[in-house]
Amino acid sequence: MRWAFRTKSIEQILGDYEAQTHKLKRTLTAFDLTALGIGAIIGTGVFVLVGTAAVGDGDRPGAGPGLILSFILSGTACLLAALCYAEFASMIPVAGSAYTYSYATLGELFAWVTGWSLVLEYGIACVAVSIGWSGYLVSLLERIGVHLPAPLINAPHEGGLVNLPAVLIVLALTCLLVIGIKESARVTGVIVTIKIAVVLFFIAVGVFAVDPANWSPFMPNGFAGVGAAAAIIFFAYIGFDAVSTTAEEAQNPQRDVPIGIIVSLVLCTLLYVAVAAVLTGIVPYGKIHVKAPVAEALNAVGYRWGSALVAVGAVAGITSVLIVMLLGQIRVFYAMSRDGLLSPWLSAVHPRYGTPHRATLVTGATVAVLAGFVPIGVAAELTNIGTLFAFTLVCGAVLVLRRTRPDLRRPFRAPFVPAVPILGMLACLGLIGYLPVITKVGFVIWAAAGLILYASYGFRHSKVGKRAFGTGGAGS
Ligand code: ALA
Repeated sequence: MRWAFRTKSIEQILGDYEAQTHKLKRTLTAFDLTALGIGAIIGTGVFVLVGTAAVGDGDRPGAGPGLILSFILSGTACLLAALCYAEFASMIPVAGSAYTYSYATLGELFAWVTGWSLVLEYGIACVAVSIGWSGYLVSLLERIGVHLPAPLINAPHEGGLVNLPAVLIVLALTCLLVIGIKESARVTGVIVTIKIAVVLFFIAVGVFAVDPANWSPFMPNGFAGVGAAAAIIFFAYIGFDAVSTTAEEAQNPQRDVPIGIIVSLVLCTLLYVAVAAVLTGIVPYGKIHVKAPVAEALNAVGYRWGSALVAVGAVAGITSVLIVMLLGQIRVFYAMSRDGLLSPWLSAVHPRYGTPHRATLVTGATVAVLAGFVPIGVAAELTNIGTLFAFTLVCGAVLVLRRTRPDLRRPFRAPFVPAVPILGMLACLGLIGYLPVITKVGFVIWAAAGLILYASYGFRHSKVGKRAFGTGGAGS
């Protein structure tokens, strides 16, 4: 590539993988990968953010029942990006992510920008996910008569001091991750079953309480409300790309990773659309609860036990998303540090536990502090902008690689190229357009800070850079 002067070739990435002495066992099937995807996807988005998306808050107009349309819009954007992810995941079946894909196609600078955006996707997502977890835990405890002091369960913008349950769950999981718990495929299976059961239960019970009058007006704030809701509810889909990070553990990654990504995404889209229809059908949209909307909706129509069941399922389900997202963030830091773009201090492995404990502790401590004080909407929207940006780059990378390396074997080819990647980029950029101005300003500041860090550290310490200069060339 002429203009991206530092890049890792795909052959190099695959070669590095082959040279590893410790390879992970290839045990996961297409079914396991789909379950894993669903485990990472269904969480705070559908259990919590649906409330804010439907009702709106501050400057953000709500979608009302138009939330159904919002889910279809952001699901479509994700599906387009997922097809591009699947092409890469089949081509580079090592523990990949958008970061690795960018390195291989667009060069180091874009890899850095992608990795830096992924810190928002995973790291800041953990903030929003833990706040969502806290909302359901509080709602659950209240049902059994335990009332925690208000200042300790509300962040300052809600009139409290700190969202302590959110802080504590992050710290607890961080400790577990330092010691090195590995969520086994069986535990993932159980949690995924609980999650799907709870969502189906909500749909099946709620459907009988639907009053079609609640669906009118369908778009109380016009398309502005639907677009704004699509931009925030996009959060509910984040996680399908986690499947691509397990490619090294898949039995037949070239076939099964694309299946896992696409099937989990399509199933979740169908479930989400149904949840949106039922939720806005049983509660007039202005009355939807914003902290525990799904459980409280059942409560409002008299299903107290059903509501408690949903709350228990939500707490369990959101916990598993939090683990996946924390691990995702730790892996991103670890990969960037191993490549020399961040300090090697971060990728040190604990002598006893064998985990990247420093990357874990830095992630956990930062997320915990933010979780205590930041509004969930702000965290979710920052996550979304980072993710949408990374997705845009992945779609662009598919286009670039089809031109620069048409020779590569692509076990899964995204269909209708260039239409799919171009539409994917437009859809992601369109959703970014609907995010609040403050989120965009925040992202620009984040990106600028990232570029400064790259210029002052990563550029000089990059292993690829050293390798390129070591062989006397700066090109590839
Ligand atoms: N999609 C994940 C969730 O909604 C991040 O919690």
